[in-house]
Amino acid sequence: MQDPRPAPSLDVFARRKREGQPLVVVTAYDLSSALIGAAGGADALLVGDSLGMVMLGHESTLPVTIDDMVHHCRAVQRARPGIPVIADLPYGTFHVSPAETVRAGLRLVQEAGVQAVKIEGGRQRDEMIAALLAAEIPVMGHLGLTPQSVNRLGGYRVQGRDADAEARLLEDAAFLAQAGCFGLVLECVPATLAARVTAVSPIPTIGIGAGPGCDGQVLVFHDLLGLLPGQPPKFVRRYAELGRLATEAVAAYAADVRQRQFPAAEHSYGGGGAGAPGAGGPTGGESTGPAYPGGCSAGGEPAA
Ligand code: KIV
Repeated sequence: MQDPRPAPSLDVFARRKREGQPLVVVTAYDLSSALIGAAGGADALLVGDSLGMVMLGHESTLPVTIDDMVHHCRAVQRARPGIPVIADLPYGTFHVSPAETVRAGLRLVQEAGVQAVKIEGGRQRDEMIAALLAAEIPVMGHLGLTPQSVNRLGGYRVQGRDADAEARLLEDAAFLAQAGCFGLVLECVPATLAARVTAVSPIPTIGIGAGPGCDGQVLVFHDLLGLLPGQPPKFVRRYAELGRLATEAVAAYAADVRQRQFPAAEHSYGGGGAGAPGAGGPTGGESTGPAYPGGCSAGGEPAA
């Protein structure tokens, strides 16, 4: 069915910068994270290739494929979040040729319905960014700690700490704006440097581990909700401990099942003869009730 709402627009990025209002971006990887991110009031969702680590259990983002990205972006778009969805171009898709880069971008736009792609790197992406824009695919830049460069960088380290690295980052940021990117992620750079970039950048900067001086912030869904065990990076503020809560909930369920406290009468279907609760089940004509929120609006209302 056609969604009657206007298509989500990337204009929010320029508007927030113009009005001096912080941009709120959160990552999303599937139906539930997209519903929660949109209902929580994010301005945009990023289907980051961080999904390789937080959803698929890889040790880096390098193994993520374009098929993985399309699969997860489609699940995000099925939430019909009503806000722009930006997808990472995964490692390997923009390193060979402009034609391959465009083919990957087109898959994300055509098959998965995203509004824009994000590409890691600065001036070295010159041709790839031009090719994407020529194919009508809006592009977001990403500088500082670019996780796809982990092998070259020798680990996940703060970037832009010496004068040369600072100058390079300032030049790359100016290049990306000039090249036509609509926004720029700054990851793990000193707060003073991120503030300098932001002050001169005509496009909004979205920081992660880049201090308060950026035009907006992005956090990984699992980090901000405390979904996974372990110590989060210094730049993360945990707004919930859902991993602990979820574990406690499953433990309570396990205990109830073992003590025959669940299911109770209210969770069982009647009828079907022979006196057995549940006999006949949903095929006996009783509705099972809402099973999942597929097709929900951003506000979480079940679709008619
Ligand atoms: O992959 C990702 O989630 C990202 C953000 C951390 C910016 O690139």
